[in-house]
Amino acid sequence: MIRKPIFAANWKMNKGASETEDFVRSFLSKIQGQSFPCEIVIAPPFVSLPKLADLLHGAVQNASAIQIGAQNCSQFDAGAYTGEVNVLMLREFFVHFVIIGHSERRAIFGETDAIINAKLKKAREANLKPIFCIGETLAQREGGMLESVLRTQVTEGLQGLTEKDMAEIVIAYEPVWAIGTGVTATSQQAQDAHAFVRSLVAGLYGTDTAERIRIQYGGSVKPGNAAELMACPDIDGALIGGASLEPHGFLEIIRNGTVPLVE
Ligand code: PGA
Repeated sequence: MIRKPIFAANWKMNKGASETEDFVRSFLSKIQGQSFPCEIVIAPPFVSLPKLADLLHGAVQNASAIQIGAQNCSQFDAGAYTGEVNVLMLREFFVHFVIIGHSERRAIFGETDAIINAKLKKAREANLKPIFCIGETLAQREGGMLESVLRTQVTEGLQGLTEKDMAEIVIAYEPVWAIGTGVTATSQQAQDAHAFVRSLVAGLYGTDTAERIRIQYGGSVKPGNAAELMACPDIDGALIGGASLEPHGFLEIIRNGTVPLVE
């Protein structure tokens, strides 16, 4: 089973419209004449989506190399939800992917597995492809709870989603202790967690679905560790925060994590 790797930039609360434009122009000029055997996604803040959509659906060269992601969506349709953005609004800006359940959303904004489940369903109703984030804290890992935490997040997060939905979902395994800390999981720790998550998906949806689903690793991915992580059999790409803010670094991660094909 060949799973196409997917590299997604999670810019978090960084880069307004003008910095988004600078990044995209620089990134696209760097990849001129090359194609990579992977998908590339950029998820900027909501307010930068119109600029990204303009650039990628305008006449900029190589624009089709990048797909647009959002960092969050509302679990509601429309109405009196101050500060929220719904999935149809995202579709208007050619958003195809949406990050759901990031550990910062869970820890800082109180998102529970039930809320994340509702967001995953809402995203699928609009035919968006969720990047569904899971991962344990250091205390949970050290307390021997790694597997039970992942099992709960996967089982409750995916409740009610169908096998057809699963074909459009990407899972991102991001150990919380590795996010933005400079500490990366060793490739063995990451591989073991990924294999476990795949076995959970197999238990819920069968081995075919489990073999097909892409599981990204996230947490201090950098140009220097991408190759080793991506060589693991169950790691199918990366969700990248800090190192995706600079075009050269993001591109080096993609290069080192894949085999570039010169057109
Ligand atoms: P990081 O963030 O690459 O800065 O560790 C990853 C993430 O939060 O998705």
